Amino acid sequence: MIERGALRRAFEERYGRPARLFRAPGRVNLIGEHTDYNGGFVLPMAIDRETVVAAAPRADRTVRVRSLNRGEELAFDLDRPGEPRRGLWLDYVEGVARALESRGVRLGGADLLLLSDVPAGAGLSSSAALEVSAGLALASVSGRRVDPVELALAGQQAEHAYVGTLSGVMDQFVAALGREGHALLIDCRALAAEAIPLDTTNFVVAIADTHVRHELSASEYNRRRAECEEGVRLLSEHLPGVRELRDVSVEEFERFAACLPGTVRRRCRHVVGENARTLAAAAALRRGDLEEVGRLMRRSHESLRDDYEVSCAELDLLAETAWGVRGVLGSRMTGGGFGGSTVSLVPRDRLTEFERALTEEYQQRKGFTPTVYVSEAGGGAEEVISDE
Ligand code: GLA
Repeated sequence: MIERGALRRAFEERYGRPARLFRAPGRVNLIGEHTDYNGGFVLPMAIDRETVVAAAPRADRTVRVRSLNRGEELAFDLDRPGEPRRGLWLDYVEGVARALESRGVRLGGADLLLLSDVPAGAGLSSSAALEVSAGLALASVSGRRVDPVELALAGQQAEHAYVGTLSGVMDQFVAALGREGHALLIDCRALAAEAIPLDTTNFVVAIADTHVRHELSASEYNRRRAECEEGVRLLSEHLPGVRELRDVSVEEFERFAACLPGTVRRRCRHVVGENARTLAAAAALRRGDLEEVGRLMRRSHESLRDDYEVSCAELDLLAETAWGVRGVLGSRMTGGGFGGSTVSLVPRDRLTEFERALTEEYQQRKGFTPTVYVSEAGGGAEEVISDE
């Protein structure tokens, strides 16, 4: 957790006036991968790693942002839009500011000081944590209230317009609306969520970071999205009500799968199956059947590896090693893929064994060690009132 008092003091020292603090968490997705931009279901939880923004208003329309992680300060003028897609971390902040203004949330200038302990590139949505915390900070110090769903949509809009990834809404949604002790079953079409209690008395959610990020992830992501759209176009010739893959049941898919070319068929099989697995996992979680959740997580990984082809050797190695550890209920890649992390359900009393197995195997085969984190399900974006 970020030290709030220290961040407040650092702001006062640098800018000579007090700040308000806002936070948004990273996330891990238990199941429901590459379903969000198909109008489907996802089951993520917010983690206990976060981005915290200290903020105070300015009299002009300048937003000055200092990142303590980068040791760098950048600025933009709300009245003079900068170039999108510069590949800067500022793109996320400027992107969300512009998205909020385009949604009718008039902002004032501000000084922002950021600090994050969400590891970048680990598939834990450090970018959504940044977009949502900065968006909330900017709106709040401008005296505006933003509905959390609007805030999530503004974050997603920043990704599309400023960053250049055509991402779904999962990451920003859970960063904005995560609930302590709960996973969120999000219906990405309805933009509505059900919070499902996650009992971690005996089993914990363990995240293992491969420390690899393969270059192609953004272009491959956009390509998968286009392949799904092609699938919808072809399937809707037979199933007229179909607007998104969310509308296709497993049975309907099987009936018409032969009409799809090979690659598109495999992509669609993943998405249609993953939606069904996510709903089944949510039902299993509601009745406390973690074994079933774990079994579905493994099937999700296999489908992402074989049909959607977004896994990689490092993710496969960590997931497969976890499957072999006694007592582990399930393990899979989490997030967009091509590197990043796996998520596993591990018996609390076997965590050491789990970490040792993953570390030894990974060290031996890849020459370096993964980082294993355990996280409870945390809360979503909010103003930080107390520094405790
Ligand atoms: C990334 C995107 C999300 C989602 C996942 C895959 O994290 O930002 O919107 O599509 O990949 O499930």
